[in-house]
Amino acid sequence: MKGLSFCIIMFFVLTACNRDQPSLDFSELLSGDNLESTLFNISLDQDTLLKGKKGVEIYIPKGSFVENGQAPQGKIKIELKEATSKTDFIIANLTTITKEGQVLESNGMAYINATADGKALQLKEGANVQIVFTNVPYIEGMEVYYGAPNQKGQMTWEKEDQLVETDRVKAIKQGSKLYNENCSSCHSTSLRTNMTGPALGNVHLFRDKEWFVQHVRNSQKMLEEGDSLSICLFDTWNKSVMSSFEHLTEQEVESIYWWLKNESEDKKYNQ
Ligand code: HEC
Repeated sequence: MKGLSFCIIMFFVLTACNRDQPSLDFSELLSGDNLESTLFNISLDQDTLLKGKKGVEIYIPKGSFVENGQAPQGKIKIELKEATSKTDFIIANLTTITKEGQVLESNGMAYINATADGKALQLKEGANVQIVFTNVPYIEGMEVYYGAPNQKGQMTWEKEDQLVETDRVKAIKQGSKLYNENCSSCHSTSLRTNMTGPALGNVHLFRDKEWFVQHVRNSQKMLEEGDSLSICLFDTWNKSVMSSFEHLTEQEVESIYWWLKNESEDKKYNQ
């Protein structure tokens, strides 16, 4: 009996479908509304650091917004939408065309809207609001673009000159240089193939930073202290000792760790 009622239901569904075929309008399905908004209430009397769920951070110095040139009245609300993956770009229908018609490759986008009691606010002349993407890989040569809708309502992007180098980017650049100078004679630069030493791609997923720093600075000391991981590596790699790098500071070795993490998260590594 169960089988029969199942068939009947199927039949009704199908006929209903045939009679009234709704046309799918993808433009309605794919829109910025599909991206989750994070809302913050802030006070303009003090500097504020807001942290989004996908790693976008906004630093707002006090008094950064105005409402038609005047100090805003009422509660200030900041809405943040973050698009940091291809899935986000697609579901939100985000295009990456510049005003000049060039197609950009995006690594992350953020939408920020400031209001006071529902009224739109503007950035005050000279205000130094900073936006940092803490979770997307840094790629050499990356630039910042500011988006605004054109007459057709599509987002077009215009180049901003104010790309500020964050501490994270500085560390990644430093790490890249130090790796090439000190490590690439034994560890491959593709991070995929083993050489004298093991391939270091994704090392951040299986070794924590503190252990990494200690092992790199003096793996022999780790062996003497009986660190089981260092002993295991030493045995696996035919008892060849890795050179010590005590002339590099902890911060410098950490920067190599950040560079390796950044390279491993970059899509060219994961292709
Ligand atoms: C003379 C060759 C040589 C150089 C130069 C060298 N390594 Fe190594 N490295 C090895 C060998 C061999 C191993 C495996 C044995 C061991 O870990 O003691 C290793 C292992 C490692 C490991 C452990 C990998 C794992 O699976 O956990 C890390 C991390 C590492 N090296 C980082 C570095 C960094 C960073 C540098 C540059 C500052 C560097 N190495 C320079 C030869 C080298």
